[in-house]
Amino acid sequence: MSSSKDPCSSAASSRGNWGSKLGFILAAGGSAVGLGNLWKFPYLAYSNGGGAGDQQGAGGFVLIYLLAVLVLGLPIMIAEMMLGKRTQTTPIGAFESVRPHSLWKHVGTLCVITGFLLLSYYSVIAGWTVEYTVKSVTSEFSNYDQAVSEEMVREQLWHDFVYSSEGEAALIIELGQKPESLSKALTDPKLNTLKQVVTDQEWKRLQQNEEGQAKLSELKKTLYPQKLFSEFIAHPWKQVLWAFVFLAMTVGVVIGGVSKGIERWSKILMPALFVLLIVLLGRMLMLDGAGKALSFLFRPSFEMVTASTVLNAMGQAFFSLSLGMGVLITYGSYMKKEDNLVSSSYSVVIMDTLIALIASVIIFSAIFSYNLVMKDGGTGNLFTAMPVIFMKLPGGILLCAAFYILVIFAALTSAISMLEAVVATFVDEFKWSRKKAVYIISAVTFVLGIPAALSYNLMSNVTIMGKTWIDFADFLCSNWFMPIGGLMLSLFVGFVFTKKDQREELPEAHCKWFPFPLFRVLVRYIAPVLVVVVLLGMLFGAIQ
Ligand code: TRP
Repeated sequence: MSSSKDPCSSAASSRGNWGSKLGFILAAGGSAVGLGNLWKFPYLAYSNGGGAGDQQGAGGFVLIYLLAVLVLGLPIMIAEMMLGKRTQTTPIGAFESVRPHSLWKHVGTLCVITGFLLLSYYSVIAGWTVEYTVKSVTSEFSNYDQAVSEEMVREQLWHDFVYSSEGEAALIIELGQKPESLSKALTDPKLNTLKQVVTDQEWKRLQQNEEGQAKLSELKKTLYPQKLFSEFIAHPWKQVLWAFVFLAMTVGVVIGGVSKGIERWSKILMPALFVLLIVLLGRMLMLDGAGKALSFLFRPSFEMVTASTVLNAMGQAFFSLSLGMGVLITYGSYMKKEDNLVSSSYSVVIMDTLIALIASVIIFSAIFSYNLVMKDGGTGNLFTAMPVIFMKLPGGILLCAAFYILVIFAALTSAISMLEAVVATFVDEFKWSRKKAVYIISAVTFVLGIPAALSYNLMSNVTIMGKTWIDFADFLCSNWFMPIGGLMLSLFVGFVFTKKDQREELPEAHCKWFPFPLFRVLVRYIAPVLVVVVLLGMLFGAIQ
């Protein structure tokens, strides 16, 4: 390494360090664990697994995701932390200090651009959790009775019929053959008459007696959250307002200096999140749909796997582990010389993956137990499936509020680290004061976030490559920028760092669970080649 300073020795005192190893792991874990685990992973599993119907499964997606985490995520995480730990500075400076006046520093620039874009739409989704906390506290979920229309009930009755064995037989008679897919049959105009007849009959049956009435009210309880959610995202100003509120909370933490704040808060929030998730998991496993949820998620099934499943799994691994954006360079720069990169990375990766899987089991148990139909590929499932359960459990309102508050905290620890990485870079590179950097950067982010907030309403018709702005921004960040950032990082650490540099950061004593030669092969060849293959596949349109 041609660095002029010996960073590991001097900088420790001036830049501050993590108070403890656990503190670092929880802070890096706090960055990793966020909406990616609680919202995005379950929804990707839902859409890549073919939705709830049709007896497909997400097992293939989950398996590919686990592989991506091990083969790409772990080595790139170690590489990213290593760069920060060794240079003790933020993304742009880290490259600059090792290879001054080279193009490498623009990998840092890419990290910064990704940070802006990511935080801009992340705040919008995080804003939803703020609205949902308010909704649960004001018990908005209990107004289901008048709110759900007959038409919505009929749609659900039709869905239940199509997916029943009786329905399957009727569809075959009506169409003269087995329908190609049950989800398509739901909206097939050829089935309109059958739909009318069936739903008329069922609707009448539900009106008839008390038992029917009770069933109807159950049905409305499951439908109401969907209605609430569609109405909510159709509301432009609420979207902008909550994104603003969330961003303001993030600013509030980062402005006060994060090193102490983050660590202290992470130590409280992360264990609380974990405990609540375990409690919920226990409760959910008692529901009827739990078995189906487990088999949907974990039965190895490759019917649904396509090239884009691989792309989605890889993008999600980068997203969920907060890789390729320079956050771990920044966090790594606060590590001490003797800290162990391997065990820290393992801890973060295991924590992050476990939480994504637990969240999925919880959400899918709800979906399958109540036969919920998730619209739009399940984008809203954290917001539409969870209230259904909470409405039915004793003390549900409290649990519901607690749940969404914890989702806010998970999102907040992630957002803090995004803002911190960008702010720290501006402070280091342009010598801005922290205050100035925080205000200017968050203002720009807020403005960038407005089209994301309007993507589900005023701007839902404005599309780029067939995607609304928020989907496009996420596509750019998760599927392009983060993988490219990660690719460059692994090449940089793999080839620009000498073997001796790497060895100093990964001494034998730390490498029990991750042999040094394996690290070298992964970071120099396997991870870069895999990322390049997937990126080329995307570029040439083989992967959508
Ligand atoms: N990992 C975060 C989550 O799962 C999202 C994220 C992606 C992130 N890149 C990041 C967070 C960079 C902080 C920094 O929600």
